[in-house]
Amino acid sequence: MDSLLDKIDRSRVPAHVAIIMDGNGRWAKERSMERSEGHVEGVNTVRRITEAASAAGVSYLTLYAFSTENWNRPKQEVDALMHLIVLAIERETPDLIKNNVRLDMIGDFDRMPPEALARLRQCMADTANCTGLTLVLALSYSSRWEITEAVRRIAAEAAAGKINPADITDATVSAYMSTASMPDPDLLIRTGGDKRVSNFLLWQIAYSEIYITPTYWPDFSKDDFYRAILEYQSRERRFGLTSEQLTK
Ligand code: IPE
Ligand code: IPE
Ligand code: MG
Repeated sequence: MDSLLDKIDRSRVPAHVAIIMDGNGRWAKERSMERSEGHVEGVNTVRRITEAASAAGVSYLTLYAFSTENWNRPKQEVDALMHLIVLAIERETPDLIKNNVRLDMIGDFDRMPPEALARLRQCMADTANCTGLTLVLALSYSSRWEITEAVRRIAAEAAAGKINPADITDATVSAYMSTASMPDPDLLIRTGGDKRVSNFLLWQIAYSEIYITPTYWPDFSKDDFYRAILEYQSRERRFGLTSEQLTK
């Protein structure tokens, strides 16, 4: 059944896969359904792809669930999405624990509705000791927000004399990002076909392999996920070097 899974080279699985989960609205529109029904279906895909990532041996799965800019969508859609997050976290927490999945979250917590934030914090606490996949939800997240926050904190430390500006390296900047405890994404997937990054992990994707599929997020299957990993494994990551240097 999981034939594509068997084709994955276990010694070269991307440690961190980040996904821009896009296309819920268009999926619903094509079926003359409300956009929010696309988001409901999208939650099933989150569950499915979390299982697939665990099965493939991925260590970190970061899902872009709600951007800073998404706060400007119609209130009805924002409210429905936040409500959906509460329901999904409540429903899925027992299975996350059973499957040894730890939940983490990046984003501007202060803008999240209190009920959703409380649920998320509870789930993070309940799964804190899980040692399998780390599932990171990017919620109320944008990369420019994150970088701005990092710059503000570094500047404050410098002003207080705790950091010497001359000692700031790219490792310092990484350490001030909300992803400080994670490796950079090896693979960035975008569903829904649009060829843009939409303010997601701009600093961290410097050398990520990018995989874009026209498939809408609600239709994205385990095999689609494994296909992305197989494509990743067929690429040569040169990190600025020449091909000859890599094979030496
Ligand atoms: C992605 O699907 C989910 C969120 C941004 C919350 P969209 O809602 O953006 O769906 P499309 O892109 O309009 O089809
Ligand atoms: C990106 O999707 C954000 C998330 C998937 C949460 P959008 O639908 O918001 O991005 P744009 O507007 O197409 O760039
Ligand atoms: Mg979209």
